[in-house]
Amino acid sequence: MKILIVGSGGREHAIAWKVAQSPKADKIYCAPGNAGIAEVAECVDIKAMEFDKLVAFAKEKEIDLTIVGMDDPLVGGIVDAFEVEGLRVFGPRKNAAILEGSKAFSKDLMKKYNIPTAAYENFTDPEAAIAYLENAKFPIVLKADGLALGKGVLICNSLEEAKAGVREIMEDKKFGSAGNTMVIEEFLTGREVSVLSFVDGNIVKTMASAQDHKRAKDGDEGLNTGGMGNFSPTPFYTPEVEEFCKKYVFQPTVDAMKAEGRPFKGVIFFGLILTPDGPKVLEYNARFGDPEAQVVLPRMKNDIIDVCEACIDGTLDQIDLQFMDDACVCVVLASDGYPVAYEKGFPIQGLDSFKGDDRNFCFHAGTKFNEAGEIVTNGGRVLGITALGKDLKEARANAYKAVDRVSFDNKYYRHDIGHAIDEFKG
Ligand code: AMP
Ligand code: GLY
Repeated sequence: MKILIVGSGGREHAIAWKVAQSPKADKIYCAPGNAGIAEVAECVDIKAMEFDKLVAFAKEKEIDLTIVGMDDPLVGGIVDAFEVEGLRVFGPRKNAAILEGSKAFSKDLMKKYNIPTAAYENFTDPEAAIAYLENAKFPIVLKADGLALGKGVLICNSLEEAKAGVREIMEDKKFGSAGNTMVIEEFLTGREVSVLSFVDGNIVKTMASAQDHKRAKDGDEGLNTGGMGNFSPTPFYTPEVEEFCKKYVFQPTVDAMKAEGRPFKGVIFFGLILTPDGPKVLEYNARFGDPEAQVVLPRMKNDIIDVCEACIDGTLDQIDLQFMDDACVCVVLASDGYPVAYEKGFPIQGLDSFKGDDRNFCFHAGTKFNEAGEIVTNGGRVLGITALGKDLKEARANAYKAVDRVSFDNKYYRHDIGHAIDEFKG
């Protein structure tokens, strides 16, 4: 089979790496890809939002299956663009990707179908939002409705902060049109857990759980980032939590989308928070997480092509989804200064040490080849150093050992990825 992967981050590297293990994959392309993906796929210089070019490429190369990693093209309707041309593509259509593309939509869906989530109101008028805040309890959470690179959520401790947040999002349009509508919701406390799942329009099969570290600095301080590292499984996703979510969250969400005439096929990423009142949904994503894919896919035993095809064909019930007992930890190596300002273009040493290693992986995010043919840093998040281990502690030790195998100027990473592992009291 010929496979095309759309995207250019660590997540797409993990997907491409997993696809490359399938005996069914004869040729893999990735658009636009990065320097690491180039080891397992032929990178094609087409951007993820250039649907016409991607469709033309897929037709020309007779691509059998396209897997879309990123949120923007999914929310923008890439799956519809491929399907219209009779091309097979893994991911939700535009009318289903709205589950991630509009927080107001997803909140209304959860309310209508009694899926546990924070209490909220949606606003399209900044004055109405401010009037509502006058009587609100703090802290409170403001969310831009649309995609905002994971940065459209503000936790406000006072009325002043919240008013300024409304102005930023709705009037100054800090996140562009994503802020035309805003959700204001109750602040929840608890441990966060990510559960990725495959969905075929009718049924859902969950993958292993994971826990992300979103903040830039040790001790979960500093600004929110796309994710500085994570681990899988998370011990906080206990059998009781799983049982609850199966009953009240996972299948109910898939059923709700179907009932709304928006059947979902692809990956639903459930962003959960384990509150004192039980698990609640913080957010949905309509794709693999980044870096969740980097810790979940190395543990998956199935051929990813089989699973993607089953989602497309509505035959996921025939897939016995299985994960290794081994744990996996990913430590993101970033450019110092991320997520604000950072320099790029520094050569990276030590990458070859991962070649042929089947327990430690170096997934590339922001990397590229310079004119001299060297691999250089090309983004805020540069590499996801990922390791398996017989349990979480061993995987974490292995990941930090592997971190030392790579060097580049301005290399920055958190030293406490997986600290939650030690906090679990069973
Ligand atoms: P989201 O993009 O909706 O997942 O929000 C990003 C991050 O903001 C989450 O991972 C949480 O850490 C935090 N967050 C979002 N909603 C809430 C909430 N209602 N209460 C507390 N924290 C939240
Ligand atoms: N790591 C969080 C996300 O992919 O949205």
